[in-house]
Amino acid sequence: MQDALYTFTNGLYVVGACNQPYFAGALVDAVTQISAEPPMIMLSMMNHSHTKSCIDKTNEFSLSVLPDDIDPFVVANFGFQSSFNIKKWEQVDYTTHHNLPYIKDSLAQIRLRVVDKIIYPHNTLFIAEVIETYETKQGNPLTYKYYREHLKPICEASFDNKSACKLENAPHEKGMKPLNLHKTWTCSLCMYEYNGDIAFEDLPQDWRCPFCGVGKEMFELR
Ligand SMILES: Cc1cc2nc3c(=O)[nH]c(=O)nc-3n(C[C@H](O)[C@H](O)[C@H](O)COP(=O)(O)O)c2cc1C
Repeated sequence: MQDALYTFTNGLYVVGACNQPYFAGALVDAVTQISAEPPMIMLSMMNHSHTKSCIDKTNEFSLSVLPDDIDPFVVANFGFQSSFNIKKWEQVDYTTHHNLPYIKDSLAQIRLRVVDKIIYPHNTLFIAEVIETYETKQGNPLTYKYYREHLKPICEASFDNKSACKLENAPHEKGMKPLNLHKTWTCSLCMYEYNGDIAFEDLPQDWRCPFCGVGKEMFELR
């Protein structure tokens, strides 16, 4: 079933939200345009995402459309860790408009206001209208397919390098999550780390990620 869904032509985006006095942000692929007039999109966010809880509070968010030549660390920074305890935006080049953050090298920068939402057990669908768009640059959008087939290992390496570097220089930076360099079985979709008493290999084949619901085959040792 997963192979069929992988044929969808999703792009990759960074969602930004305001979480006074900082910004939250997450990497997403579940974005689609649902209307041209008025311009509206739908964004699906996992319920445990910190960025999602910030959008719930403000009803506004930013979208940065990533180009295929994006610095792989940007992808890792926003996709592999939670902004609950990491100031993700301070680790990348960004700009702000109306108190929302945008990736500097993005193809398009879009400010959105939530007009409706549908809450499911694991995800929330935000229906949002486009308020304004800002600078756009020429280039090709980064697709989920390209990420999965080419960029993923490079993103993982860039993330490990920066983490190792930080550990050497500032092991317990205030407000930052202590870095965990031992590998754990991690959901490649939502980054949930399995820490149960039963060895991961011994979990039943129909066991599912408690956060996003994908099967065991989506877990990797990271
Ligand atoms: C390739 C990729 C695609 C992702 N797509 C989504 C998505 O569409 N919706 C979502 O809620 N999370 C998605 N995630 C997971 C979030 O980026 C990740 O859980 C992030 O740590 C959330 O950060 P936050 O807690 O700061 O919001 C994706 C992750 C990756 C690596």
